[in-house]
Amino acid sequence: MLVPFRPESPRLPQQPGWDEELGFHYRELDAFWLSRWTAESGWEPGQLYEHPGATLELSLGANVLYYGQAVFEGLKAYRTREGKIVLFRPADNARRLQNSAARLVMPAPPVEMFLEAVRAVVQANARWVPGYGKGSLYIRPVLIGSGPVLGVAPAKEYLFYVFASPVGQYMGGDRVIVLSSVHRAAPYGTGSAKVAGNYAASLRAHEVAREQGYVEALYLDAREDRYVEELGAANFFAVMSDGTLVTPPLGSILPGITRDSILTIAREVFGWIAVERPLPIEEVLTDAVEAFYTGTAAVLAPITVINYRGVDHPIGDGKPGPRARKLRQTLEAIQRQEHPDPWGWVVEVEL
Ligand SMILES: Cc1ncc(COP(=O)(O)O)c(C=O)c1O
Repeated sequence: MLVPFRPESPRLPQQPGWDEELGFHYRELDAFWLSRWTAESGWEPGQLYEHPGATLELSLGANVLYYGQAVFEGLKAYRTREGKIVLFRPADNARRLQNSAARLVMPAPPVEMFLEAVRAVVQANARWVPGYGKGSLYIRPVLIGSGPVLGVAPAKEYLFYVFASPVGQYMGGDRVIVLSSVHRAAPYGTGSAKVAGNYAASLRAHEVAREQGYVEALYLDAREDRYVEELGAANFFAVMSDGTLVTPPLGSILPGITRDSILTIAREVFGWIAVERPLPIEEVLTDAVEAFYTGTAAVLAPITVINYRGVDHPIGDGKPGPRARKLRQTLEAIQRQEHPDPWGWVVEVEL
């Protein structure tokens, strides 16, 4: 059921104590935002609804239930030391949602509508943005084909909604495993789009990795089973013995916004050589002195061990490296307005 959100809407009494570990969970906050697209009228203006107890009513024939028209985004709002609330590169998420939607023949919200929805959700749930240094508000914009279909065809009606949840650390682990006979994305497939089905297809590998004591699967390319692509929900970087920072090229990986930020910081803040090129797994295992993964949820976390063909390979000296630490510190400082931001990445939300 959907109940429009009003200033007098009942508020959940409890806020999580920001000092306890927040984890990464779905929570019902005060409000979420939703708009509908129909072939006749396009996007309706969209509005906030009460989040507690909110459910969507869907036709049994909704496309998303069979043919999987579902794409989404993930971005964060942070609290600065002065208590302001800021977003990191939200327009890039809006554009990526448009690219993902185009891949699945879905109408995407215009960038301005996406930003308006994100701002409205953050403003209505401002009290849920964790205090400075205590975590962040994860924002989840979603686009689904809600119109009914029977044969394989795009829906004629879509829902775009945005909800949020306060979060702490995401994966938290530094050992990854290359699993034999599992690939994430085929050449010319949907790997570069943030399509829900990609994640459904990765759940099994994630489970197997976890069972074996690794935080995530590290995927190789589907054509040669040789070149590193990315993790299930984060991009991959290695620092080679000559000091070069290397990350796999775009193509069948998700074009991570954190990935792009890290490349830019490495080049423009530190003056390091940072290249996007095919990266064979053997080269990582024999020549990398550091490795790490990046993503909105994970931020940047070191990889100290890669299991390949049943053998644990320590990366470098098997400990988190200095370049990963520097890059993470700088990224976080930019995100909290404590470091110059010549790129205009950080956007304040008016309260
Ligand atoms: C498959 C995949 N790769 C990479 C990323 C990192 O992308 P970003 O830095 O934009 O969060 C994500 C997270 O969204 C992801 O799901």
